[in-house]
Amino acid sequence: MILRRFKAENFRNIEGCDITFSPGVNLLYGNNAQGKTNAVEGIYVFARGKSFRLADDKELVRFGSDGFRILVEYETKDGINTLEYAFFGRERRRKKNGYKIDKIKEMIGSFKAVLFYPDDLLLVKASPEERRAFLNVAIGQCYDVYISYYANYKKALENRNCLLKLASKGMAVDGNELISWSYYMAEYASYIHLMRKEYTARLSEYANGIIKEISGGKEEVNISYKSDVEENLSKREDVEAEYRKIFTENIEKEKIVGSSLYGVHRDDLLIDLNGKSARHFASQGQQRSIVLAMKLAEGEVNKDICGEYPVFLFDDVLSELDEERRKYLIGGIGERQIIITSCERDSFGISDANKIEVSLGSYKN
Ligand SMILES: Nc1ncnc2c1ncn2[C@@H]1O[C@H](COP(=O)(O)OP(=O)(O)OP(=O)(O)O)[C@@H](O)[C@H]1O
Ligand SMILES: [Mg+2]
Repeated sequence: MILRRFKAENFRNIEGCDITFSPGVNLLYGNNAQGKTNAVEGIYVFARGKSFRLADDKELVRFGSDGFRILVEYETKDGINTLEYAFFGRERRRKKNGYKIDKIKEMIGSFKAVLFYPDDLLLVKASPEERRAFLNVAIGQCYDVYISYYANYKKALENRNCLLKLASKGMAVDGNELISWSYYMAEYASYIHLMRKEYTARLSEYANGIIKEISGGKEEVNISYKSDVEENLSKREDVEAEYRKIFTENIEKEKIVGSSLYGVHRDDLLIDLNGKSARHFASQGQQRSIVLAMKLAEGEVNKDICGEYPVFLFDDVLSELDEERRKYLIGGIGERQIIITSCERDSFGISDANKIEVSLGSYKN
């Protein structure tokens, strides 16, 4: 997938822009606070459905304006497509190739991108919640049904937690209702579990190949999926039965605590480097290499599943990587497209034709 164009009106500090991108490596460069990340944020809205900076749509509107409109034009193996997203007042409009689309899922499933930004550098050491978020976004890009499973699971979890909270305050709650939410959760947990397990196995294999290359064969990484259900279960019905058992057997304990103590909302990724927990033993540089490998691996898995590479968006991370990692990244891009932002113009060996100067919300090819 190749991003050809990004247009924006009244988005963040961009009054109006029309940026064209080339296949291969593209660089958005400029001083601080000019609008480099803003452009990446706008592009990534189409892949994630919302801002990666966790801003709500209102914050994305340029100060003093009443709404924004953004558009991407991208090429897939089936041809050129456009996606458009507009937000005015409370109204949201999404279009694909000029036709209205209702579901955010359709937008997410159409344009695919892998984002790598400075906060990601801490992923190995971050909380399980952040690693789950990584998994959710990565899998959601490959399978839009995952997004529905996850939304249904969360709805059931919220209802179950609500009852448990009341119980923890000594109020009477309907036991059957708790069981029924537990069953509902178990069903969706089983789908999520199996998709996460399969995705992690694929991710780990690619990430390990990349780490071996980066380290000249000296290092190995293994990423495994940690959940409340036994590892060897692979039939969905068995996984569901196991979750039902865990959810129903622990209700009394959970009534005291007031929340659901088990389930896929507590999952994690275990990351080992050379057989030892990377979180505890890997150096900072090694941890960065692991995250770089995970991001590139995410692109490989995405390609295996969807048939083509996603667009890679690297916001401000190149300067955080050493010379060798940069060379590895830029040297071996092959058919991938990478959009990089940096304050530096000339440090990365990128051709002048692919450099875009960013200054106060304007972009000059
Ligand atoms: N809703 C908004 N309306 C207008 N301007 C905004 C809005 N939100 C953010 N900005 C401005 O956008 C600028 C930041 O842009 P951005 O984060 O893209 O900078 P950057 O070029 O990536 O800088 P850095 O190199 O520091 O990362 C800030 O000056 C900020 O005040
Ligand atoms: Mg920035």
